[in-house]
Amino acid sequence: MDKKTLHLWYAHPQDLTEAVTQACASLLSEDERAQWQTFRFDCHRREYLTTRALVRTALSHYHPLAPEAWRFQTNPYGKPSVNPDCGLRFNLSNSLGLVVCLIAQGAEVGVDAEPIQDAEKVTEYAAEMLSPFELAQLEALSGREKLDRALSVWTLKEAYVKARGVGLSLPLNKFSFLFGGVEGVRLELDPCLGTEPGSRWRFCLIEHANHRIALMTEGAAVPDLQVWEVRPLLAPPTRLAVGGERWFQNSVAPSRALQQQSGHEAH
Ligand SMILES: CC(C)(COP(=O)(O)OP(=O)(O)OC[C@H]1O[C@@H](n2cnc3c(N)ncnc32)[C@H](O)[C@@H]1OP(=O)(O)O)[C@@H](O)C(=O)NCCC(=O)NCCS
Repeated sequence: MDKKTLHLWYAHPQDLTEAVTQACASLLSEDERAQWQTFRFDCHRREYLTTRALVRTALSHYHPLAPEAWRFQTNPYGKPSVNPDCGLRFNLSNSLGLVVCLIAQGAEVGVDAEPIQDAEKVTEYAAEMLSPFELAQLEALSGREKLDRALSVWTLKEAYVKARGVGLSLPLNKFSFLFGGVEGVRLELDPCLGTEPGSRWRFCLIEHANHRIALMTEGAAVPDLQVWEVRPLLAPPTRLAVGGERWFQNSVAPSRALQQQSGHEAH
């Protein structure tokens, strides 16, 4: 895998037949198999198994290690990575209907997928989760547009938190995904979050199987996105057509939202 390419994988928990379930289970480590057995509901068992099998088979697509041979570790905030490090980076997001895995070589990545039908629920939590600048932009919208924006901002925030790998130690109201202007969408950080090189992150929003998906990756260049789907799991992957997705980046200038707040910017 070259450093400019970003690989996104999709799998669907509802595809698990009895035979595929057995084959996927045989890929799990002992710990994972024990964890799999603890879920009370079948839908959660399927989601868990699909996630574990997808990350293993997808990683083996880029490395000679067999799917069952991968070992993982987590950082203090729970972000999993390959152990020992082989240069591949990945991140996962799972829901009952879709599991996504984003993989890159040598660049941190974060991904979040949310069912589009959850937009209303997300909007209800917006006041607690969004920054004042994001909220102001959201409040200027109504109806479908408002639900749509809330879902986009939410998935972008999750993908950013996950790319940084520091969980909720990153205060959600201290960074903003702001829509509009020539950049389309920009990420602005409150200075209290410390310094991050401008244009460290590239991000985009896409949709698949009724989910809104935010992708976040390190790198100054626009990534070359390849999308793969496995239906059912363990079947040969199908490469899906993509292109036309618009990539954005974190702001290179000091936070414009903050300048605006203190009245330094012309309106
Ligand atoms: C990790 C976290 C960021 C995402 O959780 P989530 O949206 O519930 O779940 P997702 O399906 O998108 O992601 C779960 C996967 O992320 C990965 N993950 C766990 N902790 C992580 C971390 N600190 N950083 C990156 N990835 C992490 C894991 O692979 C996990 O799946 P697994 O346990 O099956 O391996 C969550 O722990 C969290 O803290 N969420 C913030 C909640 C919130 O208030 N968000 C509002 C944003 S507006």
